Amino acid sequence: MTGKETNKVATNVFGIDLGTSNIKIYNHHENDIIDEKNIIAIEGKNHICAMGDEAFEMYEKAPENINICYPIANGVIADIESMQILFRGMLERSGGRFLRNSKYIMSVPTDITEVEKRAFYDLVHMANVREKKIMFVEKPIADAVGLGLDVNSARGIMIVDVGADTTEISVISLGGIVLSKLLQVGGNHFDDAILLAIKKRENLLIGKKTAEYIKKELTSNDEDAVKAVKVFGRDIVTGLPMEREIRADLVLESIGELLYTIVDAAKMILERTPPELSSDIIENGIYLTGGSSNIVELAKIMARETELDANISKLPEECVVRGIARIIDDKTLDGLVGEINEKIYR
Ligand SMILES: Nc1ncnc2c1ncn2[C@@H]1O[C@H](COP(=O)(O)OP(=O)(O)OP(=O)(O)O)[C@@H](O)[C@H]1O
Ligand SMILES: [Mg+2]
Repeated sequence: MTGKETNKVATNVFGIDLGTSNIKIYNHHENDIIDEKNIIAIEGKNHICAMGDEAFEMYEKAPENINICYPIANGVIADIESMQILFRGMLERSGGRFLRNSKYIMSVPTDITEVEKRAFYDLVHMANVREKKIMFVEKPIADAVGLGLDVNSARGIMIVDVGADTTEISVISLGGIVLSKLLQVGGNHFDDAILLAIKKRENLLIGKKTAEYIKKELTSNDEDAVKAVKVFGRDIVTGLPMEREIRADLVLESIGELLYTIVDAAKMILERTPPELSSDIIENGIYLTGGSSNIVELAKIMARETELDANISKLPEECVVRGIARIIDDKTLDGLVGEINEKIYR
């Protein structure tokens, strides 16, 4: 290896947002973000069949000897072994030829315990990347930076990140979290509710992947909204495969209660926010991020119930990783990242 290459190795930085449903990696050298399903397919004991989007294709289609799993649950690492294999594979896929001696900045949920945080640290450390440093940033902070907001100012910012397993509601000021609430509600729960409603009302059994497809088709478009989609499932009465049309109103009705759970929790946080900060939030509105904020109805209910603007963004699922990318690129934001407290473990 030449001296020049060594230099290049020393400077690469990866930004990582390990979500329940998707893993997003920013590679500073390549100036590129990859966003793939956080899923792995393992045949028998330890033969890796596929990972990422490729493994998702196999979901609900694979024979019994192929185990397909999501190693992150509720925002934290549930299956460390699978996550390690998947993580290493995704780093390589992100064009990470120069993994060694790189810096890794990961986003973590606000209320995480030190043990859970340590699991994120170990994930990188054990991936055999010989890291230079592993650092952390709280997800809502990264979200706000990803939205282009000035998190270091003394202004109150309210972020509602609606992901796949969780919703994180936070109030930020001066680069820190003032108030936060983590709800076990997200896109996966919407999918379950849709699946159940179709089973009850249409006598049709569908898979989770189909439920997610229906949700994306029928809830995310406003102007040229599709009012119905045709899907395949199994008729509960006859037991035969059947094509049926699913209407948007059935879908919205089935997830309505969950949407209100999120909005009610946001209202509760607003009530507890100090007046000086809430005046800023009243002025600027609430910021919705995370893949599930693509559901237009959520912003509508939020705005109606709180009487505030509900701001939505383009590609909200990549907000956190775009924020980490900005933190990496902008030295004035260095203070937003921290290291693990080694003293606790020694
Ligand atoms: N257009 C869309 N309409 C509705 N839901 C969507 C859309 N696009 C993505 N989603 C949902 O967003 C979720 C994924 O969002 P995101 O990537 O923010 O979650 P995550 O970071 O993996 O999860 P978490 O933050 O809970 O760990 C999935 O449940 C997905 O179905
Ligand atoms: Mg997320």
